[in-house]
Amino acid sequence: MKVLVTGGMGYIGSHTCVQMIEAGLEPVILDNLCNSKEAVLERINQLTGKTPVFYQGDIRDREILDQIFSEQSIDSVIHFAGLKAVGESVEKPLEYYDNNVHGTLMLVDAMKSAGVNSLVFSSSATVYGDPAEVPINENTPTGNVTNPYGRSKYMVEECLRDIQYAAPEMSITLLRYFNPVGAHPSGTMGEDPQGIPNNLMPFIAQVAVGRREFLSVFGNDYPTPDGTGVRDYIHVMDLADGHIAALNAVGKKDGLHIFNLGTGKGSSVLEMVDAFSDACGHDIAYKLCPRRPGDIAECWADTSKATKELNWEAKFDVKAMAADTWRWQSANPKGY
Ligand code: NAD
Ligand code: WQD
Repeated sequence: MKVLVTGGMGYIGSHTCVQMIEAGLEPVILDNLCNSKEAVLERINQLTGKTPVFYQGDIRDREILDQIFSEQSIDSVIHFAGLKAVGESVEKPLEYYDNNVHGTLMLVDAMKSAGVNSLVFSSSATVYGDPAEVPINENTPTGNVTNPYGRSKYMVEECLRDIQYAAPEMSITLLRYFNPVGAHPSGTMGEDPQGIPNNLMPFIAQVAVGRREFLSVFGNDYPTPDGTGVRDYIHVMDLADGHIAALNAVGKKDGLHIFNLGTGKGSSVLEMVDAFSDACGHDIAYKLCPRRPGDIAECWADTSKATKELNWEAKFDVKAMAADTWRWQSANPKGY
């Protein structure tokens, strides 16, 4: 089965391509490399012995979309491409809505013209905003989001809902990721953020490797066991496998399918720091700082729907997430 993977050179997309190849699927990548490097292709080849067909281009370019759909016989699309930095989205909302919302509409329009009916979309737990209670299941209300990035994900979800309603033959799957972390266990592929990392795990990894002096812990007065924020961190390899499980279970089944992809367990910032210290063998310097605006106290997934309907569940714990991130970061201190 040939699958168009938009954003396949990025963090989650590249790991998913490796797992797809291992599972006998054929990824075809479309990526404009705005947040990734071409070196990823060689790493995929080193791990799998195969190099996916790669089109360098933008999801908003109708010509390249039509070219791909006419040159390749695509069965399904996994749509990772997009911008994802919460803070930047506040500064540059137009770019976020253009890339994430308009880009997705261009993609789906091209799919419809080409008669491709199966789409898996990278959504985010951010669509739940600040939930009234945890764990969060797929019926928890969405839309109460506080930044343009999150709103773009919510808007795309709503657009796709309407599109699927009007085209009932389509299979559209919304995968709401919790907090993806970790790296390929070989240490050859991982997250390679440009500039100062926005997210916790890559920041800790850069402190561990000596690229940054200390971690700022954003708030220790939350109503959580140790006062720091609690999240559902999920290993990127588990997340990658979740996409394959979704393609297998519902990729050919018409309808709108929605799944949380998380582990169902929450970990605090300080627990992540401890796990990383164990992995790298030394302390991680940190300072307690004020809360980061827009952050919520705690968030973790009810994953029972994915377990039951996709026959998928996360296998890796926080220890493995830290160990694999450290293996990648220490072998590639400056990324790719
Ligand atoms: P990433 O930035 O590493 O990967 C995104 C890829 O898309 C990059 O390779 C980038 O070059 C490419 N891209 C961006 N805009 C494009 C465009 N217009 N045309 C073609 N290519 C384009 O991000 P990631 O962490 O792998 O995230 C993948 C998806 O998952 C994103 O949609 C993101 O919003 C979503 N997501 C990520 C997280 C997370 O914490 N990493 C959490 C929830 C959801
Ligand atoms: C995790 C915890 C911080 C950095 C974001 C997006 C979300 C999704 C995943 C894409 C929080 C604390 C962090 C630091 C810290 N992305 N922290 N010091 O905010 O849960 O989710 O990424 O869809 O949409 O909002 O993840 O990794 O930024 O933060 O103390 O330097 O770590 O306060 O408690 P978050 P994160």
